[in-house]
Amino acid sequence: MAPLLTLQFVAALLTFVAPSLGKGVAPGQIKNFVTFGDSYTDVGYPAADGGYAWPTYAAGYGPFNLYPFAKSGGTCSNNLTYRPFPPIVGSQLPTYFDEVKNGTLHLNPKETIYTIWIGTNDLGVNALITGSDAPDVSIVPVRQCAVDIVKVLYASGARNFIMQNILPLDLTVLYSANSYPNRYWDAERNSTEWSVFMRELSRSGNAITELMLQALAPTLPAAHIASFDSYGLITDIYNNPHNYLNGTAPLNVTGCVKSCVYNMNDKDSDPVCTTAEGTDRDSFLWYDELHPSEQTDRIIAREMTAVMKGKPSKWATWLS
Ligand SMILES: *[C@@H]1O[C@H](CO)[C@@H](O)[C@H](O)[C@H]1NC(C)=O
Ligand SMILES: *[C@@H]1O[C@H](CO)[C@@H](O)[C@H](O)[C@H]1NC(C)=O
Ligand SMILES: *[C@@H]1O[C@H](CO)[C@@H](O)[C@H](O)[C@H]1NC(C)=O
Ligand SMILES: *[C@@H]1O[C@H](CO)[C@@H](O)[C@H](O)[C@H]1NC(C)=O
Ligand SMILES: *[C@@H]1O[C@H](CO)[C@@H](O)[C@H](O)[C@H]1NC(C)=O
Repeated sequence: MAPLLTLQFVAALLTFVAPSLGKGVAPGQIKNFVTFGDSYTDVGYPAADGGYAWPTYAAGYGPFNLYPFAKSGGTCSNNLTYRPFPPIVGSQLPTYFDEVKNGTLHLNPKETIYTIWIGTNDLGVNALITGSDAPDVSIVPVRQCAVDIVKVLYASGARNFIMQNILPLDLTVLYSANSYPNRYWDAERNSTEWSVFMRELSRSGNAITELMLQALAPTLPAAHIASFDSYGLITDIYNNPHNYLNGTAPLNVTGCVKSCVYNMNDKDSDPVCTTAEGTDRDSFLWYDELHPSEQTDRIIAREMTAVMKGKPSKWATWLS
């Protein structure tokens, strides 16, 4: 009897102990966050949301020390999807490694978390959706590139990561079925087909990323990797705006704070703009035809802060 009881006891103890061995960061552990990405994360003021970007809010909500490397217009790699802006591979990462090497940055790996949010430009105009990339490029290497950033940072000593997935780009004004010529694209196109294609790219891109991350996580001992569901969060704001948007205008998830309609094929013409001002702006999901609004960014910041503080967020899953 006794050995059996002991075995049962050990088994029970193991199932008890196993989860606490691994997943996620502990409350109070994280003091610094380092960001890589594009205009969604670039903290230049005014940011692409018309005000402060989500990392600026998260740094205040934490509070955390913020080390921002994300740059507007960036893709994962210009070798895959070329755009004349600083990509993560080839610009943002080298700058970060330079600063580590020359002593500008010395971050304790245990107290530091790395956020990666990339894909908007890789999937977008003058890249995947317009077939502007090299012939052997597709959504697959583009997402492999995002996952590889975790590997490269891990090899340099980083241990904590949040991968933010692609938001539902087909719900932005630029890629919605009833789009109009705008500052990002004023040439002729079939907006129904664009929207369908962008929905496929976003959803399949996220599924590929998730599978790749799930495969990667067990190969990186002592790493903590969270998968943050931007797609789910923004979709929930779209479907249930009253839970998130709090401005003084009627709630609006299909238009944007600063909407500018151009003439077709005529970038030099003066667009017709409609702009919401003051407290009306917090009624919108989008700031312009491609970017989340400042209120949306506050929500993203709130959820990202919870993850970094080791608290539960409905929109994040720790894979390790
Ligand atoms: C990008 O391409 C250049 C030139 O072909 C090459 O030297 C470089 O190593 C490539 N970088 C990456 C990250 O693949
Ligand atoms: C360290 O590297 C960064 C990025 O390349 C550079 O901007 C900075 O001037 C360097 N600082 C020193 C002290 O060399
Ligand atoms: C745009 O594409 C949709 C879906 O393929 C098609 O039904 C529609 O007729 C197209 N519109 C035009 C103006 O070509
Ligand atoms: C949403 O905002 C757009 C401006 O981008 C405006 O044209 C539209 O009428 C607004 N919709 C509602 C329901 O207020
Ligand atoms: C909406 O809520 C945010 C907090 O999420 C707050 O900072 C902002 O001032 C609110 N906006 C309005 C118009 O009350």
